[in-house]
Amino acid sequence: MRKKIVAGNWKMNTTLEQAIMLASEIDLKLAESKKNNDDVTVILFPPFPFIHDVADVINLDKIGVGSQNIANHPEGAFTGEVSAKMIASIQEVGYTIIGHSERRAYYGETSEILSQKIALGLENNLDVVFCCGEKLEEREANKHFDVIKSQLSETILKLSASQMQHIVIAYEPVWAIGTGKTASTEQAQEVHAFIRNLLKENFDVALADSVSILYGGSCKPTNAQALFSQPDIDGGLIGGAALKADDFIQIIESY
Ligand code: PGA
Repeated sequence: MRKKIVAGNWKMNTTLEQAIMLASEIDLKLAESKKNNDDVTVILFPPFPFIHDVADVINLDKIGVGSQNIANHPEGAFTGEVSAKMIASIQEVGYTIIGHSERRAYYGETSEILSQKIALGLENNLDVVFCCGEKLEEREANKHFDVIKSQLSETILKLSASQMQHIVIAYEPVWAIGTGKTASTEQAQEVHAFIRNLLKENFDVALADSVSILYGGSCKPTNAQALFSQPDIDGGLIGGAALKADDFIQIIESY
């Protein structure tokens, strides 16, 4: 069956010292947790410069680590960019996020750019957490299904079935990210089921059933359990609440 995943996207937060402290605290609290969380894959996405230090202080048998982004070029004269190859050369790293709505909105990342990034991530043996989600005006105009269908058709639905085995999808309604507004369990489940159905149509039932689809957008200890109990919600991509070890652990434990 598909993996249950709780991932923490730290975004542009923490200093080196804070990142090490937060990762150490999460590692310790997870080890001490009274609940058996062995069936939940936990992944941390710290800022680029701290990935290696974070990997150093966690038990990598229990917690995975990844980057929040990668460049859309393999290497060369792209000042300030970080390539998939660089990330993959940090031995402990197994994942990258691609297509977060903040990258799409603030850095103009189109489906074409995101497809280049996905290809580079996969070539470098990184599992890709691919984000999709509609803006508030799109939801209000009842266009959310169309938006998500285009976001996926232009990118991951073009992959081969074997490449898809290295993709995790995160549904993150833009209006719920960092706003404190969460999609209702019904709204989230409805979109997750829609995404799984797209996978069925493009690949097959077995593959569709094997891909983890995470919810993101103001997921916190008080709503995680209700969200994760939905049949097509396989965990969460957590922003704000991932910066507090206690909240993050509670979200993991709510599975
Ligand atoms: P949030 O962010 O939990 O702070 O809403 C989620 C995300 O952007 O991944």
